[in-house]
Amino acid sequence: MEILNDIPDDKYVKVDEFLAYIGIYDDVVRLERFRQHLSRLKSHIEGKTVVEAGAGFGLLSREILKLNPRKLFAVERNDLTYNVLKKRLADFDRVETIHAEVEEFEPDCEVDLLVHEFYGSMLYDENLFSLQQLRFQPKMVFPNGGELRAAVVALSDVHDDVVDTSVLRQLGGVVVGDLFPDHSLSAADFDIVVARYAYGEGIETFETDISRRDGELVAFSLFITHDGEVVCDAITCENWSIAWTPRSGDMFRLDFEVEDGAVKTIFQWLK
Ligand SMILES: C[S@@+](CC[C@H](N)C(=O)[O-])C[C@H]1O[C@@H](n2cnc3c(N)ncnc32)[C@H](O)[C@@H]1O
Repeated sequence: MEILNDIPDDKYVKVDEFLAYIGIYDDVVRLERFRQHLSRLKSHIEGKTVVEAGAGFGLLSREILKLNPRKLFAVERNDLTYNVLKKRLADFDRVETIHAEVEEFEPDCEVDLLVHEFYGSMLYDENLFSLQQLRFQPKMVFPNGGELRAAVVALSDVHDDVVDTSVLRQLGGVVVGDLFPDHSLSAADFDIVVARYAYGEGIETFETDISRRDGELVAFSLFITHDGEVVCDAITCENWSIAWTPRSGDMFRLDFEVEDGAVKTIFQWLK
């Protein structure tokens, strides 16, 4: 969804984010996976205090409320999204909607569980970074981990009449989301871990040697994990994109730099 008329900059930022998140609700696999994992965490929700960081339109909040928490704080920063959230949770007891950045939120009691969906297609972004700035210490966080995994892919494994080698040559060093929507990759193909995130430990990245692999492309997929088990990945959950870059060497490195609260993804070929 794209804004097509001229509107003031401050309104643009809010509406743009609001529209971006509307798109996630088309991803029914994502919602089902989170729902299943939350129901397995019932003993950490029933009678307990839960915070949802970035509650959006309240779909996960509703799932949490079905599991009878003592109290749910549904925290959302975007004004427009918050208005929708407040209305959609108005009929539920035991929930308080909070209009704030989660890193500014100070609950008046201990938090048993924090639920979030703060993952970018390249794993680490400003949303995950915000969980390192919390003013409270949840006893448990769901999901609590993630990996960015790579696959080295032959051009013959992707199907695109337009993006051929002459197009790819122009994209050296550029990582592009959804460049090849039509591919035959499965989660098992992404067997090289290039970055790992763990709540409480932060992000770790690795130099990656692909000299023993054949293929003209490198693809990256997010894997969201909880206690090491995969919750969602970009192959099955369409909310996240597979990212692609043409191969320009045998060794690369990915890094994340935080600047004024924003996270930059740095990708470079080492040799
Ligand atoms: C992926 S959506 C979550 C949707 C929600 N889990 C649901 O199922 O309805 C992420 C939401 O987090 C909000 N958000 C992002 N960063 C935030 C922050 N630092 N504090 C509070 N809300 C934030 C966004 O505005 C967006 O609505």
